[in-house]
Amino acid sequence: MNSPRTIVENNGAVVILDQTRLPQETAFVHLTTLADAAQAIRVMRVRGAPLIGATAAYGVALGLEEGQPLDAIVQTLAATRPTAVNLQWALARMARALQKSAPAGWRDLAWREARAIAREDAEANAAIGQHGLAILRPLAGRKQPIQLMTHCNAGWLATVAHGTALAPIYAAQAAGLAVHVWVSETRPRNQGLLTAWELAQAGVPHTFIVDNAAGLLMMQGKVDAVIVGADRIAANGDTANKVGTYLKALAAKAHGVPFYVAAPLSTIDFACPDGAHIPIEERAAEEVGGGATAVANPAFDITPAQLIAGIITERGLVAAGNLASVKP
Ligand code: MRU
Repeated sequence: MNSPRTIVENNGAVVILDQTRLPQETAFVHLTTLADAAQAIRVMRVRGAPLIGATAAYGVALGLEEGQPLDAIVQTLAATRPTAVNLQWALARMARALQKSAPAGWRDLAWREARAIAREDAEANAAIGQHGLAILRPLAGRKQPIQLMTHCNAGWLATVAHGTALAPIYAAQAAGLAVHVWVSETRPRNQGLLTAWELAQAGVPHTFIVDNAAGLLMMQGKVDAVIVGADRIAANGDTANKVGTYLKALAAKAHGVPFYVAAPLSTIDFACPDGAHIPIEERAAEEVGGGATAVANPAFDITPAQLIAGIITERGLVAAGNLASVKP
């Protein structure tokens, strides 16, 4: 199955789709320096855990091309956003790969490793789509369209290709299953608009809702399953994702709606014991428009493992409490 790609190379530059301008405008930006890559992540021109990781990997290659020291490159990129563990995961993988060679070979090696990280992300997400499809098929056997709900944007825009939470939905559509998706707005950055844009392009029927409508729709029996992405999954299965995810999981539990997380293994932080140890990004008050009023703007929340029906990975569906079974 084909998917658009969010990050490509072009003559020594890294080309990304500027997500701060979507859905109004499709604008590509050339990243040519470490600072470009770091800024793209920080201001969310690229966003979504897997794409943040891939961009950081390419950022290492750009920094080495500029002759910057590896330690400084890694520090700059690591400081951009705290919650998505794919960022640290990609930087650690790049450093490990480079250590295998003398510094003279680092530039070439960095491009190769970044390319591999990007390719493997696309492959992992395609596999997530197929594993997710196996979960959706029985639902489709009972009733069509299958009514799904998602939060934020965990589509191809948030990854190198295919998406995570949206990958099973695209796979279901390709397999001829009728699906309808409830897309929540995702205040304050409105990533739901990106999801609606993606689904519209793919011809997947969907309906845009305010975040707080999710509970009512589940109470009314209008949701068969919830699928969201993840920014960091702790070793015990507690999952950080865009703020508002936890409330959807609580409502899903209350109404017997299965709540799935779809994420590649690069999003699992086996060194992090539980959700309480996941750093939560606090973003600027201006995003919430508080003016003179005190504002708290946590960008993510934690969904406890016991609220999660399963985690859809490239290795298949894994119980949130049994992540040790997929530990590399
Ligand atoms: O702040 P964002 O837009 O980077 O947050 C994105 C999310 O929360 C996604 O759900 C998550 O990164 C998974 S993306 C496949």
